[in-house]
Amino acid sequence: MNLLHHVARYAVNQKMGKSLKWEEPSSVAPKKRDYKSFLYIHVPFCAHICPFCMFNAHKLDRHSNQVADYFAALKKELLMYKEAGFDFGAAYVGGGTPALVHEELAEFLDFAQQHFEFSELSVEANPRISDAAVQSFKAVGVDRLSVGVQSFDDGMLKKLGRESYGSGSEIRKRINELLGEFRILNVDFIFNVPNHDPAVLQRDMEIVLQDKIDQITTYPLMEARQNRGYVSKQGRISYDLEAYLYKKVILPTLRDEYAAVSSWCFSRKDKPDIDMLDEYVVDYFDYVGIGTGSMSLHDSRVQVNAYTLPLYQRMIGEGRLPLVLQTHELPQRDYMQYYLMMALFGRRLSFRQFEQIFGAPFKRKMWLEWFGLKALNLVYESDGFVHTNERGMYVFLMILREFFTHVNRFRSMARLASHKLEGEGARGVLTFEAAGASSD
Ligand SMILES: C[S@@+](CC[C@H](N)C(=O)[O-])C[C@H]1O[C@@H](n2cnc3c(N)ncnc32)[C@H](O)[C@@H]1O
Ligand code: SF4
Repeated sequence: MNLLHHVARYAVNQKMGKSLKWEEPSSVAPKKRDYKSFLYIHVPFCAHICPFCMFNAHKLDRHSNQVADYFAALKKELLMYKEAGFDFGAAYVGGGTPALVHEELAEFLDFAQQHFEFSELSVEANPRISDAAVQSFKAVGVDRLSVGVQSFDDGMLKKLGRESYGSGSEIRKRINELLGEFRILNVDFIFNVPNHDPAVLQRDMEIVLQDKIDQITTYPLMEARQNRGYVSKQGRISYDLEAYLYKKVILPTLRDEYAAVSSWCFSRKDKPDIDMLDEYVVDYFDYVGIGTGSMSLHDSRVQVNAYTLPLYQRMIGEGRLPLVLQTHELPQRDYMQYYLMMALFGRRLSFRQFEQIFGAPFKRKMWLEWFGLKALNLVYESDGFVHTNERGMYVFLMILREFFTHVNRFRSMARLASHKLEGEGARGVLTFEAAGASSD
């Protein structure tokens, strides 16, 4: 197996080891800031639960009577952050499948925009998004729609348990109808499903070229507590196959017509204004997540919300932020490494921005990392930026895949903490200290 895969796994493991204890929640009042944060809004309802999915999602028909209360709670949570002094400059609505509950969502987005001015607004949908949802999102200024397609191949859709969203040709037709409705239409694919046939992925990428889809995101299948049974039934995840599919199918097929805006997101070169991507963590150093199970990173600490609907509703009803898990303040060195990881996953790190944030030049503060990146031939330098080359793109894909796998473990801890807090067993917030946390 790829040596760099082991290095990526080891590095992320080192940083994300854990020690946990219950503590009083820390204050969320932000330190004084002169910049806007990013807002993530989680809407956890789906028509069906896909067996590979790693997100916090609930079947809508079992929870339809809770949708109105959920949006009312989201409004209260948003206002708590406003009162604490936050300002949000852009928002992303993820899930789940937010487009399923478009009426309530459009009303919520209208409310949110009475309080904050979003320069970018992105919403997730499945391929069965209705015309009514499209119209209501356009009316509230959504500029990027992200649709989960996964594959246009009927065999792969069956393998992924996605038959209920239509056949490959029906999904393709719907995607073509949606093109042009929003400033950006993003389509998600999954690759490296156990025994993924390269020819199937190749055909998917060729359809992307033929249909001139604005933007695509190609996620490597990631393991999580929720999909462990599914993955083992399908076979085994092979990282050699992942490397092959990425380097020999995705990159060469897309290279001429698409620019990589992150290691796994590609935008058409003839639409240069489409640089928004799913991983908002790349562009915003500081973000707040509202809704069940969502995560925030601001003022040097990570916080996770109540995972379950009843606990989330109860905590909001008691007038407090629904936090169940938090880290201590991250030391500056860890924060810098996080910044480096996200910037280079997003293909470039700006020397000027680094110095603005950390108060000293990148090459002085992170000389060891800089040396390592150059020695391994993962980056090049030009015009005040460090850029990843194609070798570096794959290394940062592996690092992000490992990072998200750990984030999923972190979410599992939030789930356990939520169950404990729902009962009598615990008080406060479960506090997590990263292993290897080092001061600068
Ligand atoms: C939250 S879903 C939103 C889209 C919508 N719910 C749908 O599935 O059509 C975002 C994307 O995450 C990706 N995803 C979900 N589980 C994954 C996993 N275990 N590994 C990699 N990607 C995953 C899928 O590509 C999915 O489209
Ligand atoms: S992949 Fe999308 S539709 Fe499927 S369960 Fe996950 S969030 Fe829901």
